[in-house]
Amino acid sequence: MRHLMNPLDFSVEELERLFNLADDIEANMDKYAHACQGKKLATCFYEPSTRTRLSFEAAMLNLGGSVIGFSDASSSSVSKGESVSDTIRVISCFADICAMRHHKEGAPMVAASKSSIPVINAGDGGHQHPTQTLTDLLTIRSLKGRLDHFTIGLCGDLKFGRTAHSLVNALVRYEGIRFIFISPRELMIPDYITDMLKEKNIPYEEVIRLDDIMPKLDLLYMTRVQKERFFNEEDYVRLKDFYILDAAKMRLAAPDMLVLHPLPRVNEISVEVDNDPRAAYFKQVQYGVYVRMALILTLLNITVD
Ligand code: CP
Repeated sequence: MRHLMNPLDFSVEELERLFNLADDIEANMDKYAHACQGKKLATCFYEPSTRTRLSFEAAMLNLGGSVIGFSDASSSSVSKGESVSDTIRVISCFADICAMRHHKEGAPMVAASKSSIPVINAGDGGHQHPTQTLTDLLTIRSLKGRLDHFTIGLCGDLKFGRTAHSLVNALVRYEGIRFIFISPRELMIPDYITDMLKEKNIPYEEVIRLDDIMPKLDLLYMTRVQKERFFNEEDYVRLKDFYILDAAKMRLAAPDMLVLHPLPRVNEISVEVDNDPRAAYFKQVQYGVYVRMALILTLLNITVD
C-alpha cells in the first residue's frame, strides 16, 4: 500500500507513467467511467478548499466511485478532541482511499502511519501540496511539451506557499531548470530550499522586482499572499498587494510564456490577464482532475485496458 505525502514519493519514471495515464484519461474519459465502481474516497478537510476537495470528488465520481467526508473540522468529531490518528482508523473502516488537508504540517503523515488505506496529502500547513504539484507538472508538460530546460519565476508568498515549495522540490529532478524567486524580503523562499539548490548546483536568483525579470521567463508561477499563515494583520495588509500581474507587465513577457497559479487568487493577477492566451491557470484546474483520477487509480492498483 502506498501513500502520497510529497511529490518525491514518486520517481520521475513513475510520474511519467502517471502523466501518460492522465493523458489517456483526458482523451478517453468514457473508458474510465466505471473503473472505481464500488470504491469510496473519503475527503477529510480540516482547512478550507474549493479546488482540491472538489477536484478529488469530481475525479472519484468520474471514475464511477463514490465520496464521503467532511469539509469543515467543526462538523466532525475533531471538535470534540478526536486525534488525526483515531480519525483515520475510523475512516479506514468506511473508505478505500483518503485525501486529507490539515493546517498542521505533518498531520497527513501521522494519519498515513496509522491508516490501512492509502492517504493522500491534500496540503499540510505551509509544508507540501503534492497533488497541486502533480497538477502543475501535468499542465506544464501538456502546454509546453516538456518538463526540462526552462526558466521558471515563482512570485509572491514564497515563505508560506506550500505549492511553491512542492513544485521546486519536484522540478529539481529535471534537466536544465533555472529558478527565479520573486518576493518581498519578508516572504523569501525558505533557506532549506536554497540550501538544497546550492547543494545540487541548480541555478537560482532571488529578486524583488517582477518587471525586470519578465522577459527572461518561460513560466511565471504566481502565488497568493497567505493571509491565514500571518501572525498579525498589519504585516498581511502591508504585503498583500506587493505584486499585481497586469496587462502592462504581460507586455514585457515572451509571447509563449505561460502564467500559472494554484488559485485561489486574490489581487495578484488582474482579471484583465485572464483573456491573455498565456494565462493557463484555469486550464490548470482541469488538468488537476485528470491527474487526480490517474492518482486514485494508481494508489488503488486499478488498471483499465
Ligand atoms: N490550489 C488549491 O489548493 O486550492 P484550494 O485551496 O481551493 O483547494
